[in-house]
Amino acid sequence: MSTKKKLETFHISTYGCQMNLADSSTISSALLTRGYRRVADESQADLIVLNTCSVREKAEDRVFGRLGEIYKFKRRKPHMKVAVVGCMAQRLADELKEKVPHVDYVLGTDRQFQLPDVIEGIEGTSEVMTAFGHENIDAIRPVKENEYSGFVTISRGCDNFCTYCIVPYVRGREQSHSAEHIIEAVRKMVDEGVSEITLLGQNVNSYRHDGTDFPALLRRVARETDIKRLRYMTSHPKDLSRKLVDVMAEEPKLAPHVHLPLQSGSDRVLRQMGRVYTFKHYSKIVDYIRYRLPYVSITTDLIVGFPSETEQEYEMTLEAVREIRFDSAFMFRYSVRPGTTAARYEDDVPEDEKIRRLNKLIKLQQEIAHERNQREVNRVAMSLVEGTSRRSRQYARARTDGNKTVLFKSERPPVGSIIPIKIESADAFTLHGEPVEGER
Ligand code: SAH
Ligand code: SF4
Ligand code: F3S
Repeated sequence: MSTKKKLETFHISTYGCQMNLADSSTISSALLTRGYRRVADESQADLIVLNTCSVREKAEDRVFGRLGEIYKFKRRKPHMKVAVVGCMAQRLADELKEKVPHVDYVLGTDRQFQLPDVIEGIEGTSEVMTAFGHENIDAIRPVKENEYSGFVTISRGCDNFCTYCIVPYVRGREQSHSAEHIIEAVRKMVDEGVSEITLLGQNVNSYRHDGTDFPALLRRVARETDIKRLRYMTSHPKDLSRKLVDVMAEEPKLAPHVHLPLQSGSDRVLRQMGRVYTFKHYSKIVDYIRYRLPYVSITTDLIVGFPSETEQEYEMTLEAVREIRFDSAFMFRYSVRPGTTAARYEDDVPEDEKIRRLNKLIKLQQEIAHERNQREVNRVAMSLVEGTSRRSRQYARARTDGNKTVLFKSERPPVGSIIPIKIESADAFTLHGEPVEGER
C-alpha cells in the first residue's frame, strides 16, 4: 500500500479524435466512481490527466508544450500527479519518462482504464504500463459525453496499416465489442436522457462480432433501443457496402451523414498510401449514397504532400474535390510518423510546398462548402439543440441531421431536443435558421 498524500481532485484534457473523447469520459467516470472530484481549473487539480494523440507530429508537440506549463504548477504543488495516457503514452512511454521527469504515470491505450488502480498503487499495476491485450474489452464501459449526446465505441484498434498512419501501432489490433454490450450502452445513455449517439471505430465497416456485421449492428441498435438519432464514424471506402447505405436509407433514426476519408485523388498516391481503392471506386460509392440518401452530407479527410506526390497528382486531389463536392473536409499536411511504412519513403515535398498545396485546397473546399450549404436553404432540417452560440448569447446552436451547425435566435434553447429548423441562409461554415412547429 502506498503512503502517498491522497489525491482528491482531477482534471482531464483530451487531444485527438472522438475515440479519445469517448475514452476520456470512461476514465473520468472510473475516477468519479472511486471518489475523486473533477475540477474545471487545471491548476487546482491534484491529478492532471492528458489523454493524447500521435496522429501528426503537431499533436505530439502540443502535449510536450502543455507538459512544460504543467511543470510550473507542479513546482508549487509537489504532491500533484501528472498522468499521460492514450496514443502518445503508447508510442513514447520511454521518452516521456526519461525526458519529462515530472510525468508520474504513463498508461497506453489498453491500460489507461486502470488509472484509478495505478494511482492507488493497487498490486499488479505500475506507473508505466503499455502492454496490449484486454481479456474482455466489453469491461470498458462507455459513458455519455454530455446531457444530450454520447459516443459508443464499437471496435478498438485498426488492422489496415495505411502506410502513413500511426493508429494501428498505438491502438493495436482491431477488436469488436459484442452487439449486446453496444446495445446495453446505448440503452443506458438513452435512459439518462441522451438524444443522439455516435458509434465509433477506426473503420466501422470491418466491425464483426459473432456473425454480426456493421449494417446488421446498425439496424439492431436503431430498432432495439429508443435512441432518437444515430451516427457513426469512420468508414473506409474499401469496404463500405451497399447494404450499409440501404440500412441508412431504411432506418429513419440514422442521420444522413457519411464521413468517408478519400485522402488523395491520385490512384498512384492511394496505392502508395495502402488505401486499396481507386478514385473511380470511391466516386461510385458516393453516387450510390447520394442516390439512396438525397440530403446526405458527405465529408472527408485529405492529405497533401505525401512522399513523392507530384504537382500533377496533387492537382488530381483538387479535381476530385471539385468532382465529388464534399460538404466539409479535414485537410492535413503529411506528417512523418516514425515506424510507419511511409516513414521509409523520402519526405520529399518541402514544407513550404506542403503549406501552399494545403492552403489552395482549403480555399477550394471552402468555396464548395459554401455552395453545398446553399442547398440547405429553405429545407427543414431536424436539428439537435446543443446550447448557446459561442459568439452571441442571443443565438442557440444546434446540429442538423447532416451534421452541420445551425444558429437560431433563442435565449433559452431547449438543449437536448431535436427540433425542426427551417434553414434561411448559409455560409461556408454555418447555417442560420428558425424553428418551425412540431417536435420529434
Ligand atoms: N480511422 C480513420 C481516421 C484516422 S486518423 C480513417 O481511417 O479514416 C484521421 C485522419 O488523419 C486520416 O484520415 C488522415 O487523413 C489523417 N492522417 C493520418 N495520419 C496522418 C499523417 N501521418 N500525416 C497527415 N495526416 C494524417
Ligand atoms: Fe489509420 Fe488507415 Fe486505420 Fe484509418 S484505416 S486508422 S487511416 S491505418
Ligand atoms: Fe485518435 Fe490520435 Fe489516437 S487520431 S486513435 S487519438 S493517434
